[in-house]
Amino acid sequence: MTRESGALTLSEDDRRVLAPWAADCAERTLPLFEAHVAGDARPRDAVDGARAFARGELRIGPARTLAAQAHAAAREADDPAATAVAHMAGHVLGAPAYAARALALAHPDDPIAAAGLVDWVAEHATAAVRAVLRKLPRRTDAPGPLGAVMLELQARLTADPFDGRPPTSHEQMTGRPWDASYHDGPAPWDIGEAQPAIVRLASDGAFTGPVLDAGCGTGENALHVAARGVPVLGVDVSETAVAIARQKARDRRIEAEFTVADAFRLERLGRRFDTVLDCGLFHTCDATERPRYVASLASVTEPGGTLYVLCFSDEGPGTGPHPVRADELRAAFHPGTGWAVVTLTPDRVRTRFHDHRGAPAWLAAIERTSP
Ligand SMILES: C[S@@+](CC[C@H](N)C(=O)[O-])C[C@H]1O[C@@H](n2cnc3c(N)ncnc32)[C@H](O)[C@@H]1O
Repeated sequence: MTRESGALTLSEDDRRVLAPWAADCAERTLPLFEAHVAGDARPRDAVDGARAFARGELRIGPARTLAAQAHAAAREADDPAATAVAHMAGHVLGAPAYAARALALAHPDDPIAAAGLVDWVAEHATAAVRAVLRKLPRRTDAPGPLGAVMLELQARLTADPFDGRPPTSHEQMTGRPWDASYHDGPAPWDIGEAQPAIVRLASDGAFTGPVLDAGCGTGENALHVAARGVPVLGVDVSETAVAIARQKARDRRIEAEFTVADAFRLERLGRRFDTVLDCGLFHTCDATERPRYVASLASVTEPGGTLYVLCFSDEGPGTGPHPVRADELRAAFHPGTGWAVVTLTPDRVRTRFHDHRGAPAWLAAIERTSP
């Protein structure tokens, strides 16, 4: 929580994203300090303070005071590993490097200990954490015993904004991962409640479980369906969106499952659904992605099950950014794909950038025909 080089480019919100990750990392090596300096709670208090700051329960000033006290504990400890641990507890950006340093000092004959920590830190950095780290000025040279670890972490954590999957056509077009849409306030499509067309479908009893919401965003549609007592899984490539959806489910005490998954690889879920919802994902797929996506949807839908697609249409004024023609939709789900378009009707989709009537849309009910 102390100011570090590069940290001035980070907003308070950015620091809230990093704080729990740094706190988890610090906690892994706290026992090294506590074994050496029994009864000194300052590093642990700084870790708890970082988490409270992330939850919005502690302001940045008091969190920084706790971090400074951890640094004081570091200066007073007479064991190098304990010093590194206490130092780390006071840092957000340097925490992983100090943690690796502490392990290297505590286990001088075991290089795997520190390397394992670096692996753990990299694996536990969420997409949101990686996105914040990418905002920092890039270091090419970092002197001192922490430097090599800092450079390795920077290389591993900031290299791939798509976390190992191929970027979608939309991500290639915008140059940003989907996750970035959720970093600075609500995304343009995130209206903070379920789409009226989905509410109507739900009250007509269209959603029989289990239900999959593909590209669920922050979960409003999935939560609306789940609140009616239907089992729902929402999936999205955006970790931030999934985290927000989970938090909403907790806050509203609605039982619904949300997980990060690629809708173009749904077979990896190893699950089947009676009803599938696509609200706003199909229209972001380009012509090359559609066959893969349609097959992916088929792989998880029970024969006789129904897929509902709500997407922008090309008809009428005020069309959305990815208008789809009716014949394109029918062609994507042609009979050879194991789907049959049952109904395809004009509807509306609301966004944050259209007036209350929203944009022209298609609402399609598509049946899964063959196994
Ligand atoms: C236009 S938004 C709609 C979100 C949500 N259904 C709603 O109505 O608010 C499209 C969503 O699909 C997600 N998405 C895009 N490509 C995806 C993929 N291949 N797998 C899973 N989710 C994807 C995006 O992250 C985004 O949340």
